[in-house]
Amino acid sequence: MKLRVVILAAGKGTRMRSDLPKVLHKVANKPMVEHVIDTARSLKPEAVNLIYGHGGEQLQNTIQGDDLTWVEQREQLGTGHAVQQVIPYLKDDEKVVILYGDVPLLTESTLIKLLTATQTTELGLLTMTLDDPNGYGRIVRNTDKQVTGIVEQKDANAEQLAIQEVNTGIMIADGAKLKAWLENLSNDNAQKEYYLTDIVAMAAEQGVTIATAQPDATYEVEGANNRQQLAQLERAFQRRQADELMTQGVTLIDPARFDCRGKLTVGNDVTFDINVVIEGDVTIGNNVTVEPNCVIKDAIIGDNTVIRANSHIEGATVANNCKVGPFARLRPGAELADEAQVGNFVEMKKSRLGKGSKASHLTYLGDAQVGEYANIGAGTITCNYDGVNKFLTEIGNGAFIGSNSSLVAPVKIGNNATVGAGSVVTREVADEELAVARGKQRNISGWQRPQKKGS
Ligand code: UD1
Ligand code: MG
Repeated sequence: MKLRVVILAAGKGTRMRSDLPKVLHKVANKPMVEHVIDTARSLKPEAVNLIYGHGGEQLQNTIQGDDLTWVEQREQLGTGHAVQQVIPYLKDDEKVVILYGDVPLLTESTLIKLLTATQTTELGLLTMTLDDPNGYGRIVRNTDKQVTGIVEQKDANAEQLAIQEVNTGIMIADGAKLKAWLENLSNDNAQKEYYLTDIVAMAAEQGVTIATAQPDATYEVEGANNRQQLAQLERAFQRRQADELMTQGVTLIDPARFDCRGKLTVGNDVTFDINVVIEGDVTIGNNVTVEPNCVIKDAIIGDNTVIRANSHIEGATVANNCKVGPFARLRPGAELADEAQVGNFVEMKKSRLGKGSKASHLTYLGDAQVGEYANIGAGTITCNYDGVNKFLTEIGNGAFIGSNSSLVAPVKIGNNATVGAGSVVTREVADEELAVARGKQRNISGWQRPQKKGS
C-alpha cells in the first residue's frame, strides 16, 4: 500500500528559549526534524508532508528535499488541527503515518512493527507502558482488551489516570477514514484544543479494530522540549551508535565518551580511546588506533595507522601505516602517503607527504608537495602566502630540510637535496645540492656583556 508521512513540526518550543524553531535544534549535529525525515524516507513513502508554523523561513532554508511538501498551520490549535491541514492532500488508498519533528530517535524497525500490526486494519497506535504515565494521554481498553479511546491527562478521571499504557502520539491511519475522522473533531475539552487522539474513539465506535505496537526502546518516542531533554536524547543517540559500532567489532574504551556526529565507516579491529569526536563523513581502515581527545572530520584513514592523542584532522587523507600526532593538525587537503609521519605541533594544509616522509616536530606545510622518504626538520615553515596569493613548495625524494628553515614559495628543493639548518630558501635547490642560506657565524673573543648600573 502507498504511504504518506505527516510530520508535525509547528510547535514553537518556548522552553528551548531560542530563536531557532524547536525542531531545528540538533542531535548529533543534525536537526531533530531531519532525523525524522530520514526515518520517514527509509519507508519509501509516496509523499512527506511537513506541518510547520513557527520559524517557517528558517525551516525551509535549512531542510531541503524535492520529496517534501510544506503545509502551514498558522495557529497551533492542537495536534488534530495540525493534521487537519493535510486533508486536501490525503488520498483514499494510502496509509498515513503520523510522526513528530521533535521526536528524533524513532527507528525504522519500530515503524515497521507498527505498519505490520496495522496492515489488516484502519488505525494503529504506537503505545508504551510506563511506571510513571504522568503527562501522557492514556490508552483506554474495554474488558476484551480492545482499544476504545485515548483520554488526555487533563481530561482524565482518577480511574483513567491510573492507566499505565500511554499514547506516544505516533500512529498510522487509512487515508479515507482519517479524512472523515478529522472532519468530525471538536475542541470541547479541558485544553480547548482539537485533539488528534479523539479519532481513536471515533474509529472504535465504527467497529474498527485498533492495532497497537510498542517501540523497541522508550527513548525512541521521547521528544525534546528543553535543553535538558535535548542533551538526554543526544546521549541516548550516541549510546545507540556506540553499541552498533561495538557490534561491528570496534573497541571503544568508554562508549560514554565517544561521539559520532556524522557517518563513520570502519574496518576491523579499530580502537577509539576516550573523547574522540567524529564529524561529517569519515572512513577508517583496519587495525587503526585513535588515541584520546582527537577530532576527525571528513577524513579517510588507512590501515594500521595510529592517530595519537590530541590530534585534529579535517578534510585529510591518511594512507596505511602512518603515524599522526600527538598534537597534529591536518587541515583540508592534507595527504599522507603510506608510512608517512607527522608529529607534534605540525600543521598541514593542501599538502602531500610522500611515502615514508616525515615531519616530526613544529612545522607548517601549506601548499607543499613532498616526495618520498624526505625529512622535514623541526621548525620548518613553508612561506606560502604573500598576503594575497598562495604559492607552491616542491620538495623532492630523499630531501633533507634542516631545522628552523623557511622555504619561501614558489620554490623547489630537488631530489636528495639538503637545506642547512636555519636557512631562508628563496631560490631553487637542484638535485643533490646543499643550500645554506643564513648569516655566517662570527665569534668575537673578549666580548663584554653590558653591565647593570651600580652593580
Ligand atoms: C500529545 C498527545 C498525547 C500523547 C503525547 C505524547 C494529543 C492531543 N495528545 O500530547 O496523547 O501522550 O502527545 O508526547 O495529541 N503540534 C503542532 N501543532 C499543534 C499542536 C501540536 O504541530 O497545534 C506538535 C507539537 O509541536 C509537538 C506535537 O505536535 O511536536 C505534540 O504536541 P503537544 O501539544 O506537545 O502534545 P501533548 O500535549 O504532549
Ligand atoms: Mg499540548
